[in-house]
Amino acid sequence: MKATPKIAVGICSSISVYRSCEIIRIFQKNGCDVHAVMTKNASLLISPLLLTALTGHVVRIDSFEEEPSDKIDHIVLAKTIELLVIAPATANMLGKLASGIADDFLSTLFLAVECPVLIAPAMNEAMYLNKQTQENIKRLKSHGVRFVDPEKGYLACKDEGWGRLASSGRIASQGMYMLDQSISLKGRAVLITAGPTREFMDPVRYLTNRSSGKMGFELAREALRRGADVTLISGPTDLFPPRKAGFIAVTTAEEMEYAVLKNAKKADIVIMAAAVSDYSFAKKSTAKIKKSDSEKTVELVQTNDILKNLGRRKGDKILVGFAAETENVRNNALKKIEDKNIDLIIANDVSEEGIGFNSDDNKVSIIYPDGRTIQTEKKSKTEISQEILNAIEGIIGQRS
Ligand code: CTP
Repeated sequence: MKATPKIAVGICSSISVYRSCEIIRIFQKNGCDVHAVMTKNASLLISPLLLTALTGHVVRIDSFEEEPSDKIDHIVLAKTIELLVIAPATANMLGKLASGIADDFLSTLFLAVECPVLIAPAMNEAMYLNKQTQENIKRLKSHGVRFVDPEKGYLACKDEGWGRLASSGRIASQGMYMLDQSISLKGRAVLITAGPTREFMDPVRYLTNRSSGKMGFELAREALRRGADVTLISGPTDLFPPRKAGFIAVTTAEEMEYAVLKNAKKADIVIMAAAVSDYSFAKKSTAKIKKSDSEKTVELVQTNDILKNLGRRKGDKILVGFAAETENVRNNALKKIEDKNIDLIIANDVSEEGIGFNSDDNKVSIIYPDGRTIQTEKKSKTEISQEILNAIEGIIGQRS
């Protein structure tokens, strides 16, 4: 965390809006420079002047009603803050954020930020438990947004139940934890591989697998969010690489091996999430192979095991592998840890529908060399990547 981290607190129109001032004060006491952003309705409940006086900065409400400027204000703010906290967040705001609607300063800022986002909802219990609201929360969580869940208690509508804004202390301490985490890998070089490889038989035919690259790309994003220097080496995918990662596109296992060995020298952590082909064709025809009347047999030769190669001269690097299995997941994964001399393996059963290959979700076992295992639930690859990086940071912590 910087000495004075700059953060934004977004405020929506809930009765608990008066608590925003307290939340801002706690962040300030913890050394943060706080900028307040309000929705129009929130500014009817509490004066923007109060928040301007409290934060020492003009409060942003509407992108189109401010003084004309040559700067695009929400983009400038988005680029310079290290954390966005939305407290209280209404059901309406959750709906907008989950659907990508950007029709005021706060929802536009949310779309533009790359820093971590923390949301503390507050609303009537029926609205909070409404299926649509819960789906919106689930969706936002699956995109990596963190939540401080509301508490049960006396609500403004005189009902008792879930929906009361979490305590200001809980919201601020989760925010401070996220600020700490946003630099937890600062100064570390992380090399991540992703996607499938393609092994060509001739110029038009190739051998590949079902990997989409999503897991590796999400790991790269999460490592960037934690301040690491990230190099992402990927086989062919349909994905946009994270903007701040060094990106190397490869096609074959041989190209991936070359790129990994070249870049691994300066890496502190290597995560091999790529599904590298174990075989390539013994003969690669430079011209398209024509159909003939006879049956054809092709000879496959093994590719080099990149991770195993890294494991032989590991030094003090942290090496993390993946194990895509269809049976005996745990035992096969443990064998791979030993065989490849690695520090952690992420095992998943790729025969299970809806997780693993080509899916947005995953459910993995994070297995240590001593057999200790963290079993995750099925969740988005964004959330799985948080758990994997927490485990890696745990290893760093043990070593230091
Ligand atoms: N891997 C690698 N180089 C290869 C093959 C695999 O670096 N030529 C890495 C993968 O990126 C993954 C780990 O090794 O991190 C395990 O890959 P996996 O395909 O599950 O296992 P294999 O060792 O190839 O064994 P098998 O296919 O028999 O399960």
